Amino acid sequence: MLAEYVALSAEGVIATPAHLTFEEAATLPCAALTAWHALVTRGKVSAGQTVMLLRTGGVSIFALQFAKIHGARVIITSSCDAKLARAKELGADEIINYMTIPDWEKEVFRLTDKAGADHIIEVGGTNTFPKSLLAVAMGGTFSVIGGVSGFTSEVSLREILGKSVLIRGIFVVSRDVFVAMNRAISQHQLKPVIDCVFPFSDTPKAYRYAESGAHFGKVVVTV
Ligand SMILES: NC(=O)c1ccc[n+]([C@@H]2O[C@H](COP(=O)([O-])OP(=O)(O)OC[C@H]3O[C@@H](n4cnc5c(N)ncnc54)[C@H](OP(=O)(O)O)[C@@H]3O)[C@@H](O)[C@H]2O)c1
Repeated sequence: MLAEYVALSAEGVIATPAHLTFEEAATLPCAALTAWHALVTRGKVSAGQTVMLLRTGGVSIFALQFAKIHGARVIITSSCDAKLARAKELGADEIINYMTIPDWEKEVFRLTDKAGADHIIEVGGTNTFPKSLLAVAMGGTFSVIGGVSGFTSEVSLREILGKSVLIRGIFVVSRDVFVAMNRAISQHQLKPVIDCVFPFSDTPKAYRYAESGAHFGKVVVTV
């Protein structure tokens, strides 16, 4: 909100998990809740399933953490080996550098014995959407969340109908789901991954840094 004082309806706020700082809790309302809704409330991810994540921004890193507490296998892509190493430390099972392996959808098939991924958390948009459709498994769930590289795409109807893919748009969600997500975050003592925290006076720098795509997880502005 970039404000020191804000008047809000009591129904519009909830308690933060006790083990989190304000900076950590500030990462939850958008990226975390979206990832949780796609993967857990709607996606009903379960142990043993494969989750495909694109890039290492806020949504994808929360999705990685949520997939792991549900016992799923995670495949994640990034442009950067150092970021992939950090994803591995967080529990990613398979990592793919999409700069060195541009046909990463084929790699997903190889890694899954030609089955494909049960869940795709699609945040890439224009550049990744067609490849993500190729990487999804028969009967898989495809959550359309963002468009880091743009919001238009050519879509293969053959892939959608041939594999009976469930494509679902996700746009954050309600307070009830937020409360449920926070219960899980508390139970697992899960810590949001913050790349860096900028002081309020450096807000423009924080935006420029987030825009550069150099971050891993979340960028925070503290008041
Ligand atoms: N539907 C919803 O309710 C909802 C909620 C939250 C976010 N979103 C959308 O979901 C998408 C992802 O959100 P996010 O918060 O995870 O994004 P983010 O933190 O900005 O992450 C984007 C990632 O994309 C990669 N990237 C490569 N080149 C980039 C560039 N030039 N600029 C920015 N990123 C670049 C980077 O990862 P690598 O270096 O690893 O490739 C970066 O970490 C966005 O389109 C956002 O608007 C939607």
